[in-house]
Amino acid sequence: MDLSGTTVLITGANRGIGRALADEIAKRPRTRVLAGARLPERLEDPGELVPVRMDMSSKESIEESWAGLDEQVDVLFNNAGRMTGGLLEEQDTDEIYAMFQVNVTAVAHLTHLALPAMVQRGRGWIVNNASVSGYAFFPSASTYAASKSGVVAFSEALRRELKGTGVGVTHMVTPGVRTDMLDETKETYGRHLDTSGWEEVEPEEWAAKVVSAVENDDHIVGPGGRTALAKLASRGPAFVLDALTAKGFSRAKRPPSDG
Ligand SMILES: NC(=O)c1ccc[n+]([C@@H]2O[C@H](COP(=O)([O-])OP(=O)(O)OC[C@H]3O[C@@H](n4cnc5c(N)ncnc54)[C@H](OP(=O)(O)O)[C@@H]3O)[C@@H](O)[C@H]2O)c1
Repeated sequence: MDLSGTTVLITGANRGIGRALADEIAKRPRTRVLAGARLPERLEDPGELVPVRMDMSSKESIEESWAGLDEQVDVLFNNAGRMTGGLLEEQDTDEIYAMFQVNVTAVAHLTHLALPAMVQRGRGWIVNNASVSGYAFFPSASTYAASKSGVVAFSEALRRELKGTGVGVTHMVTPGVRTDMLDETKETYGRHLDTSGWEEVEPEEWAAKVVSAVENDDHIVGPGGRTALAKLASRGPAFVLDALTAKGFSRAKRPPSDG
């Protein structure tokens, strides 16, 4: 979809991948970028970005955020997300509930709100931030992987449902991208899983790839390098990923790593 001259709403646009997406899209001519944030007044150096409140924490906060938005949305990026990880029995259940709310329920709810006008206009696009964890199910990632595979399923089912309406769906198979979440993930997963070989890309590089995929009407934007192989292995027989993950995982705590 050609993004020039459109209005694009991005959730979680105050930092990390969301902010990089906002800055990349703002380079398009006449494009209005609504930078969604829980605290829009704190958006740093907004420049041309239009800060808007987008709080995905509950059904009510999503409805209020959407009601407060006095704009036509042509393209929606469901980007906001949270991470949970580690051995399941060590994870905090409140954190698990909050994570599923933002990562899955909010994606369905906000899309549900934005979609009718797009279908009516016969033009629009939904972009969902999934993850390599939505394909390759590593130990330490049980709950997060469940949320992101949910995003993949939601995106692909919806894409097929919308065929012929003029509205498309793209999902991002996001690899390790250098953000606060990646630091947090490496710290949490690293207690039981060897994360030292993880590939990392800069948010700006990933954002440019995603935006170009959307402009190309691609329904999926995937990682490159070794991460692409992990995604590929996840679709093969289970023993391949079993063997790969067994090498780097231990239920006992690993010694702290320095990288
Ligand atoms: N970085 C990676 O390696 C990686 C890999 C795979 C997938 N992803 C996905 O990429 C997306 C962005 O992550 P990131 O790496 O950019 O992480 P990040 O730097 O930690 O940013 C997370 C963003 O989500 C927002 N958010 C969290 N809970 C929210 C809520 N209840 N309502 C509204 N916004 C909320 C945060 O807002 P606050 O500042 O208010 O907390 C922040 O803007 C997530 O969906 C994540 O799962 C990231």
